[in-house]
Amino acid sequence: MTTYPVTTNEHDPLPIVACGDPILRRVADPVDPSMLHTPELRRLITDMRRTMEMAPGVGLAAPQVGVPLQLAVLQDGPQQWGHLSDDERALRQRQDLPFTVLVNPVIRPAGDDDRVSFYEGCLSVPGLTGVVARHRVVQVEAFDQDGQPIDRLFSGWAARIVQHEVDHLGGHLYLDRVQTRSLSTVDNFASRWAGRPAHDAATALGFALD
Ligand code: NI
Repeated sequence: MTTYPVTTNEHDPLPIVACGDPILRRVADPVDPSMLHTPELRRLITDMRRTMEMAPGVGLAAPQVGVPLQLAVLQDGPQQWGHLSDDERALRQRQDLPFTVLVNPVIRPAGDDDRVSFYEGCLSVPGLTGVVARHRVVQVEAFDQDGQPIDRLFSGWAARIVQHEVDHLGGHLYLDRVQTRSLSTVDNFASRWAGRPAHDAATALGFALD
């Protein structure tokens, strides 16, 4: 029987596991559909949503809160991108992504399989950001929190979020895929590279863009 890291009250975020913890490096277990209607799993999803929103983040996978299950939550919108200019948001192809739960997700590249390189970060890798090439469009098959099947395309920033979170469920971190020479502290990113073309950082730091 799996026990979940239940918060002591409904206003606190769950503690987020940082890299170096083996739970982030194992393949998470599939969710048995019969678990979806249990109070424990509903509570876990509620707690994960609050934790993601408070962090703040645009995605969170169950292993990041110490639960080795194939479950992730996603959300993007004006509250998350409020600090970006319209140009910066357009560059990232960020669009409204309503709160979404993915249970047992399987993804595959879709469209013409082009990739987009951009900075991303991870709540389990605090203080750093780096450039990762991700598929621009992915097809996602999964179940939602009610056990209803999901079969849809995600593109742009939403596709990046999905690929990042599904990686977590397979025991992968963005650090495994990052252009290592692009790695930057969030402070250096903010002061040097935010709002500038990624090619400027690529040239100055010596990494390749796809
Ligand atoms: Ni992450």
